[in-house]
Amino acid sequence: MEIKNSKSRELWLSKAGFILAAAGSAIGLGNLWRFPYVTGMYGGGAFVLVYLLSIIAIGIPIMVAEFIIGRRTQRNPVGAFGKLGKTKGWQLVGWLGLATGFILLSYYSVVGGWILDYVLKSAGGLFHGKSPAEINQMFDMVLKSPLRQVFFHALFLFLVTYIVSRGIHKGIELWNKILMPLLFGILLLLMVNSLFSPGVREGMRFLFYPDFSKITATAILEAMGQAFFPLSIGLGTMITYGSYLKRDVSLMNSATEICVLDTLVALVAGIVIFPIVFTYGLAPSAGPGLFFKTLPVVFSVLPGGRIIAFLFFLVVAFAALTSAISLLELVVAYFIDERKWGRKKAAIIMGLTIFIFGVPSALSFNTLRDITLIKGINIFNFLDLLVTNYMLPAGGLLIAIFCGWFLSRKESLDEIRKGGNDLFFYRVWRFIIRYIAPVAVLLVFSWKAGVIAL
Ligand code: TRP
Repeated sequence: MEIKNSKSRELWLSKAGFILAAAGSAIGLGNLWRFPYVTGMYGGGAFVLVYLLSIIAIGIPIMVAEFIIGRRTQRNPVGAFGKLGKTKGWQLVGWLGLATGFILLSYYSVVGGWILDYVLKSAGGLFHGKSPAEINQMFDMVLKSPLRQVFFHALFLFLVTYIVSRGIHKGIELWNKILMPLLFGILLLLMVNSLFSPGVREGMRFLFYPDFSKITATAILEAMGQAFFPLSIGLGTMITYGSYLKRDVSLMNSATEICVLDTLVALVAGIVIFPIVFTYGLAPSAGPGLFFKTLPVVFSVLPGGRIIAFLFFLVVAFAALTSAISLLELVVAYFIDERKWGRKKAAIIMGLTIFIFGVPSALSFNTLRDITLIKGINIFNFLDLLVTNYMLPAGGLLIAIFCGWFLSRKESLDEIRKGGNDLFFYRVWRFIIRYIAPVAVLLVFSWKAGVIAL
């Protein structure tokens, strides 16, 4: 039996399906790639503590706020703010979210493409027996070859578009139910493997030893800023996913479960990566270097490295795919709800548009290298800075203010009550969303925008 509401909007078939899909959105490159490194850099365990605090002070409350807006209106962010906001101005927040999702997916998919490329490379055992220099060169070759990059960028978006075009049940929910358990399983296997490697002490120390001297103001702001990207909040993906949610599911419990899963995966990713990096005495480099140069070097000499490399890149590919799906769904939902397009048409047209928009990012490491430099930053890095430093915190701030100050108490309380949470939790949430979250985000925001210098 199909579960539909009066306007025949598809709703998640089960709560588990919803949690997996939302966790699938949250768990992505932000967790597997950026979080472990930043953690080690800013004082390990001490940073993790601050990060946990910011998840409680910013992450969970804003996620709940997005779910409230989504489920209440059963609309995409633009439609949702149009329906709830008494003035037209609030709709701009929805538009900001849509624009952010569009831009984010356009370059996220470029990295998704590199990862697909590396899934194939590792499946073919290409790292095996290669010298570190040769492996470094492999990544440089990827970056230098425009056709290859555009091809894999297209392939990644094709997969995403296909899944989104199949709809909530047969596309998004189904694929998250398949890919996420696989991701958890493989990640656990990899973790066990890492825990038995000789570098385990040093790796764990890098990740968890609480060096409070590194907890500077910058580290705290970095930890708070980190709350947005890995949790998929601040642009309305959770509004969209919340809009397919049945009335009887508790929004607070769901947000907590999703955030716990997300954080666990981030930590496990660190446990997978650093012990083996330290086993071979390598430096834990940042960003692309860690994934595409350092780790393959480790895999090339690790016992069982061939299969481990393949499983590792497969996990990363799954994580990136399920995140990208939520980004495309955000954009597609707008065209379905507001423009009355069919789902297939919306998915294909937007998938293609985002592909085209992303091509300059794919080329910003080679063909367009000199043309796309903006103040020494290529277009790929420029868009990433724009999204993570400005657009996400701005969106998150506005969502918090809207939910805390403009949405009536009756409306938000009603949504929280539906899932069976009592008044106590509601009061705590409301206090945080009105006072704590906006101030915290404002701090991060002004720091990133350079208003306050540290
Ligand atoms: N959370 C994903 C990651 O960690 C990326 C992502 C998907 C995202 N949807 C989002 C980030 C919405 C911010 C907002 O890789």
